[in-house]
Amino acid sequence: MRSSLWAASVLCATALSAPTYSTSAAARSVEMRVLSGYFQLLGRKVQDEKNMAQAPVCNMNNAVMPIASPTSLPPPSTGLTLKHVAIGRGTQNYSCRANETAAPVALGAVATLYNASCVAAIYPDLLSVLPNVALQFELTDIDQATLSPSNLAISGHHYFSNLTTPIFNLSTTAMDLGFATCAKNNSVAAPAGEPTGQDDEGFGAVTWLKLLTRGGATGNLKEVYRVNTAGGKPPTTCAGMPATFEVEYAAEYWFYAS
Ligand SMILES: *[C@@H]1O[C@H](CO)[C@@H](O)[C@H](O)[C@H]1NC(C)=O
Ligand SMILES: *[C@@H]1O[C@H](CO)[C@@H](O)[C@H](O)[C@H]1NC(C)=O
Ligand SMILES: *[C@@H]1O[C@H](CO)[C@@H](O)[C@H](O)[C@H]1NC(C)=O
Ligand SMILES: *[C@@H]1O[C@H](CO)[C@@H](O)[C@H](O)[C@H]1NC(C)=O
Ligand SMILES: *[C@@H]1O[C@H](CO)[C@@H](O)[C@H](O)[C@H]1NC(C)=O
Ligand SMILES: *[C@@H]1O[C@H](CO)[C@@H](O)[C@H](O)[C@H]1NC(C)=O
Repeated sequence: MRSSLWAASVLCATALSAPTYSTSAAARSVEMRVLSGYFQLLGRKVQDEKNMAQAPVCNMNNAVMPIASPTSLPPPSTGLTLKHVAIGRGTQNYSCRANETAAPVALGAVATLYNASCVAAIYPDLLSVLPNVALQFELTDIDQATLSPSNLAISGHHYFSNLTTPIFNLSTTAMDLGFATCAKNNSVAAPAGEPTGQDDEGFGAVTWLKLLTRGGATGNLKEVYRVNTAGGKPPTTCAGMPATFEVEYAAEYWFYAS
């Protein structure tokens, strides 16, 4: 591949579906701001790559996880190495079965994961905006092959087996990085100013997390982080909410293995 093509080929889909959430002029203006910021950054990478002798090298040792929210998550345990970085795009689900003053109860998440390992290694600034960019596009199908508006390929699925058990299945026809049932180790609030939801009209960004895999995980997966979250929080109370509902979100997931 010609060096000048890496960023464009990986991060800019040739057939770009339009964002689908624009309900108001204000919402469309948020989408335009988010997307134009992304494509300007991408354009600068393409320009830089034109002046490089060879394509940028994807070395996972260069990827640095942004774990410092206002307070920091504990770092990955000694001896683990970064195996995969994914952008997750999906929904956080909640229930409102008590009364209007109660807070919504988290039911878990359903998300599709996309391989962003090399973006993490080469272009951390682009990676950090991808959750908010991805949030502006609808996920049409949990098996959608690529993450709009990029060409990042599906690398797995994330869901819950019960209220406290997140699962990551990093297995697709193209790659098999393992399967892990997890438990929460730590959580910290997302930094102020993180994307609050689609069109910036949501209730906030879900917490950043450190998860530990439970026994039986494959692919030597040991620890999973959720950082740079965009959207996903519910309203503070159940007033006016249905018995169950979903809130759109996206995030970076970092997978560490022994
Ligand atoms: C509403 O539900 C919450 C959670 O179950 C409960 O703690 C609270 O007492 C309830 N309030 C009223 C007014 O029923
Ligand atoms: C979340 O919502 C999706 C879509 O309705 C549904 O398929 C899934 O079972 C829900 N998950 C949970 C944990 O409620
Ligand atoms: C992830 O994508 C990169 C290219 O961006 C590729 O080199 C790498 O093999 C992919 N990872 C997996 C597990 O397929
Ligand atoms: C949820 O699943 C985990 C892992 O399978 C299990 O250890 C735990 O007991 C389950 N919790 C409940 C409340 O069923
Ligand atoms: C993981 O996902 C793949 C592809 O969707 C599926 O074939 C496989 O059965 C899943 N593995 C588990 C343990 O659920
Ligand atoms: C889990 O969290 C606790 C409390 O923050 C911490 O002391 C411990 O080291 C963590 N465990 C791992 C394996 O990271």
